[in-house]
Amino acid sequence: MDPPQHTVYRHLIDPYFTRERVEAFEPECRWIAGDLLEALRHAPSFEAMASLAEPYAVRIQCGFLGWPTSLHEPLLQWVRKNREATLARDTDAMAAIALEFDGHIRSQLERREGAGRAAPDDITTSLVRQTIDGKRLEHGEIVSILRNWTVGELGTIAACVGIIVHFLAETPEIQTRLRLDRSDLSPAIEEILRLHGPLISNRRTALRPVVIGGRRIEAGERMTVIWTSANRDARAFEAADRYCPERDQEPNLLYGAGIHFCPGAALARMQLRVMIDELLSRIGPFSLLTGTEPLRAVYPASGYASVFLQIDR
Ligand code: HEM
Repeated sequence: MDPPQHTVYRHLIDPYFTRERVEAFEPECRWIAGDLLEALRHAPSFEAMASLAEPYAVRIQCGFLGWPTSLHEPLLQWVRKNREATLARDTDAMAAIALEFDGHIRSQLERREGAGRAAPDDITTSLVRQTIDGKRLEHGEIVSILRNWTVGELGTIAACVGIIVHFLAETPEIQTRLRLDRSDLSPAIEEILRLHGPLISNRRTALRPVVIGGRRIEAGERMTVIWTSANRDARAFEAADRYCPERDQEPNLLYGAGIHFCPGAALARMQLRVMIDELLSRIGPFSLLTGTEPLRAVYPASGYASVFLQIDR
């Protein structure tokens, strides 16, 4: 979307991501992270994407929106099917998968409309009651908003958890430092994700002629904004390839820039900090499982398809 339409919808969704809301949701995220980690703490080894990153992303997403636990498994399956169809460039399957997702959301909306005043007090109910110029949002609009949030959450949060645990497994000295002192955890996470971005790119179409980096782009030309490349730009970051959590994170484009800056950034930052904090508290020093190689995710996804870890006792 572009302004002025974009501005109307941003005003509508931004209040769902305020500091108060994020802080109020932190204990539930901590509980979910703890629950998942408790199940792993006595295992000699585990695969971090399937047993930690993906279920964490789905469970916090359902918790944030007030969706039932019965949706956890269908959503996990949905993410996997969506990834496979995107990889295979199977547009028919992608359309069918999009419809399946809409069905999950519509059933949540209908349940709340049917319950009237007895509907649960959650974000999905608020969206159902939300108005623009005195008119309720249509189902299609709510589905579109929730799809945007869900894809933002499920894919990127899971990818981030995988990227961070992989990085810590490979750099025991940094893992140890963070175990002893968590005060640097937030900048450490921003820096790890600057070096290895969970979201490779987004696309734009120029609305008017513009010069970027000395190159003229005409109105109507399409381009790809490659966040992962910008985040290693030596003109923006000194020793751009080096891990340096104390560096100024201002130019870090992890959450985008400008009017489309990620509205979920504060939520995502909290969710990642909580997961890694709990991981370091509940699981002993870990490293990559001997004899295994982390399997990279394939573009357009980022991060890892699998990362096997061993707990070093
Ligand atoms: C670590 C996790 C996340 C990362 C790295 C991330 C990154 C980004 C980036 C780079 C953009 C800008 C896209 C562009 O300019 O084209 C963006 C936009 C967006 N993100 Fe996130 N995001 C994350 C989590 C979330 C979460 C948790 C939500 C919501 C629950 C969310 C919802 C959105 C939405 C709705 C937009 C579009 C905003 C607009 O166009 O005005 N994201 N995100």
